[in-house]
Amino acid sequence: MRDPVPLSPHKTLDTHLKLKGDFVGKPMSQGSQFKDQRILLVEDDAELRSSLGTALREFSFEVDLAEDGLEAIRKIKQSVYDILLTDLRLPGLSGEEVLCQTRELYPDLIVIVVTGYGDVRNAVNMMKLGAADYIQKPFLKEELLLRIEKALEERRWRWHSRSLPQPSSNGEFVDLLGESPGMQQVKARVSQVASLRTTVLILGETGVGKELVARAIHNNSPRKDAPLVTVNCGAIPSNLMEDEFFGHEKGAFTDAQQLRLGRFEQANRGTIFLDEISNMPPELQGKLLRVLQERECQRVGGSQTIRLDIRILAATNTNLEERVQSGAFREDLFYRLNVFPIWIPPLRERKEDLPLLVPHLLQKICAREGIPLKQITQEAMKDLIRYDWPGNIRQLENALEMAIILAGEREYLLPGDLPALCHRPAETPLFPNIGIPPEGVDFHRLVSEFEKALITEGLKIAQGKRSKAATLLNLKRTTLLEKLRRLQPTPS
Ligand SMILES: Nc1ncnc2c1ncn2[C@@H]1O[C@H](COP(=O)(O)OP(=O)(O)OP(=O)(O)O)[C@@H](O)[C@H]1O
Ligand SMILES: [Mg+2]
Repeated sequence: MRDPVPLSPHKTLDTHLKLKGDFVGKPMSQGSQFKDQRILLVEDDAELRSSLGTALREFSFEVDLAEDGLEAIRKIKQSVYDILLTDLRLPGLSGEEVLCQTRELYPDLIVIVVTGYGDVRNAVNMMKLGAADYIQKPFLKEELLLRIEKALEERRWRWHSRSLPQPSSNGEFVDLLGESPGMQQVKARVSQVASLRTTVLILGETGVGKELVARAIHNNSPRKDAPLVTVNCGAIPSNLMEDEFFGHEKGAFTDAQQLRLGRFEQANRGTIFLDEISNMPPELQGKLLRVLQERECQRVGGSQTIRLDIRILAATNTNLEERVQSGAFREDLFYRLNVFPIWIPPLRERKEDLPLLVPHLLQKICAREGIPLKQITQEAMKDLIRYDWPGNIRQLENALEMAIILAGEREYLLPGDLPALCHRPAETPLFPNIGIPPEGVDFHRLVSEFEKALITEGLKIAQGKRSKAATLLNLKRTTLLEKLRRLQPTPS
């Protein structure tokens, strides 16, 4: 790298930017990596503000300008920025005060401090207060860009660890497999909508791949480097939901010893995936509606409004329209969520995808378990195609896992390795015909009794092992646990 040419900070920087025009060894187009990154530049010197602003825009940053600390605070509260590039010495409110006022409210905001010559001690103090970095005037724009890149990279790592899959999901980032017309349509819908901020409602039976579609949307969107935060609305006890979604201020209640960011804030600049949305309790539906409409929220115990720049994805395996009609789900919220629905067809309607899915799932399971890859025989594949898979791909995955274990050292899976279910004629009903008496039935009570009977039977066969019972019932473990919690209310 060539020696940086010291510049006097003001006019010379402007001239210098124009003369040099670009990064050494980095073509201008590389600035596109900064597209969608929003910088608030706080600088009281009008000329420097304008020339630095222009230089940053040339690198594709979205730049907003503020000429003093108060204007900076006002803008930060009204918008969502990635980086605050602030002069240390500002009229009115200093850079340090701006940093202190924004630190707790916007912990994800990267603060880079610009200091004058001889201000290093102050800069180091600013880093102790939470600034990501500092840069001393005069500087070259490549120096500044390197520091911004470094700070963005550090934030990406933080975000990455935040979006790590929760135990309920398997952490796969595979593409959606399937060439059936139904899956082609799903993939077409994903690519139509991925690059936008449009809210997407993902619909489909249990185990069809709703979470995978959510990941595909996020991973193909401009937000792919920001967090994808998944919230399983069915797995959070309703009394903890508000705290989970909105977080709390320090001291908001007796146990709140620390400030805690809610899921919406964790997802800021990225995507939030609200799984099993039909389980959202009525009192929170109104709050979610407000987030969808206003793109802002408040922490529990807080009075400040936090701006949110998030993309919302939601999924359900229930008929939300029916829930709206029965009054269990707010109609206005339904319309806000149902902007761009994607329906994933059940596996029984796209059995032609099985020859593609099965080898992929075998490879996935064998790699995960560290065992040599197994193949499937044609006879076993025929059995898989004959069966209807009410639990869809998750059930298929579980059946293959069991078959792999039963096959032992054998390299090929035989029909006998597959669960007995696969050999049963597809339409065998699990329960006898039901008669409805003239006076009618209590639908919800009967359904919940049937659910209870199934869970009890599942646990009995699994000898009380909940993970095994969840596999048998083709439920996620967390879903089974939540159902059990509901069935056995804790004694008060
Ligand atoms: N098209 C596909 N290609 C490859 N794997 C898939 C596909 N669809 C689903 N899977 C796999 O099937 C399993 C279930 O998928 P996923 O968790 O996305 O389903 P879901 O619809 O969210 O289920 P639930 O309603 O139970 O939450 C996952 O392991 C996923 O990786
Ligand atoms: Mg799911």
